[in-house]
Amino acid sequence: MKILITGGAGFIGSNFTGLMLKKYPKYKITVFDALTYASNPDTIIEFKKYPNFSFIKGDIRDIAAVDKAVSGKDAVVHFAAESHVDRSILDPGIFVDTNVRGTMNMLEAAKNHSIKKFIHISTDEVYGSVKKGKSVETDMLEPTSPYAASKTSSDLIALAYFKTFNLPVIVTRSSNNFGPYQHPEKFIPLFITNAIEGKDLPLYGDGKQVRNWIYVEDNCAAIETVFRKGKPGEVYNVGGNVEEPNILVAGTIIKQLKKPASIMKFVKDRLAHDRRYALSSAKIKKLGWKPKYTFTEALKLTINWYVINKNWWSALKGKAFKDYFKKAYK
Ligand code: NAD
Ligand code: DAU
Repeated sequence: MKILITGGAGFIGSNFTGLMLKKYPKYKITVFDALTYASNPDTIIEFKKYPNFSFIKGDIRDIAAVDKAVSGKDAVVHFAAESHVDRSILDPGIFVDTNVRGTMNMLEAAKNHSIKKFIHISTDEVYGSVKKGKSVETDMLEPTSPYAASKTSSDLIALAYFKTFNLPVIVTRSSNNFGPYQHPEKFIPLFITNAIEGKDLPLYGDGKQVRNWIYVEDNCAAIETVFRKGKPGEVYNVGGNVEEPNILVAGTIIKQLKKPASIMKFVKDRLAHDRRYALSSAKIKKLGWKPKYTFTEALKLTINWYVINKNWWSALKGKAFKDYFKKAYK
């Protein structure tokens, strides 16, 4: 089996690639990634020790490069995307180009090369903010941010390729991931690394927004389960087993790193900030998957990982990162 993984140098994609390389030494795994600011080229270097691994530096917006990469493969797992909500508020255009057009290029190449399995990685943000209960796969899609709207578009285009062309597409919609190798612009790694550096932790609005956190290893196991047992044309929610307001997560990080509570600072809220995400994972659980980690143990593991791997994240908090934050807080 030859598998193409797009976005395999990013947070979830690199965790998933690591899992697949270890679990399937006989499969040939190729990562296709543009190595944007969000990527982690060091993991690609680490993967080169596996004889079944290869890497293509390429952009999903480039039709010819995509076509060449997909040619000869049996399956595609499509992670590559612009992934940060705050950046989509500052600069929506690239989210449409990459997430919508880029995904469409992937699907078109998959159709032309008769790909046998296409897993599209979507998100719980397609459901929008959830007042009560939990989102199920058949709920109406009501995305809020340009990021979420671009992901909703790509999710629906992927399903259209199943309905129209019978391309064997499967969609996973997961909740907020956290764990090793997540870029420090995102909430949990930003707060951990800021606390380690003795900087303030900028909590948006009243800090009572709720996210349905999932440890990245659990999400990767879910994607692998869907890869083996998922049914073409179906959507699978992948949620963690906890709903936690940001302010409590921040408090736990501060406590574990033995920092004063005063480093937590309330700042201007994100525009159109979704209040709550909550997923029902009943459907994927019928395939035999369930999360292995509790939120408490996974957060502890994650904090320890960032304490030990300062070299990895401090390289990502350089000038470009500081310039982005200046723009974001204007
Ligand atoms: P990430 O930002 O950490 O990584 C994205 C990867 O995609 C990077 O390696 C980047 O270089 C690559 N990439 C970006 N634009 C590209 C392009 N034009 N061509 C080729 N490669 C490109 O993202 P992540 O958090 O790992 O998310 C991966 C996927 O999972 C995304 O599709 C995201 O929407 C989805 N998702 C993320 C979460 C989460 O909590 N992080 C939750 C649900 C769904
Ligand atoms: O729900 C899945 C989504 O989770 C994915 O599709 C996205 O790719 C991923 O980035 C993530 O989106 P969020 O917007 O939920 O994650 P983020 O880490 O940006 O923020 C988590 C929460 O923390 C959110 O309520 C905003 C808040 N926050 C975030 C930052 C960066 C703060 O209070 N302060 C901050 O500085």
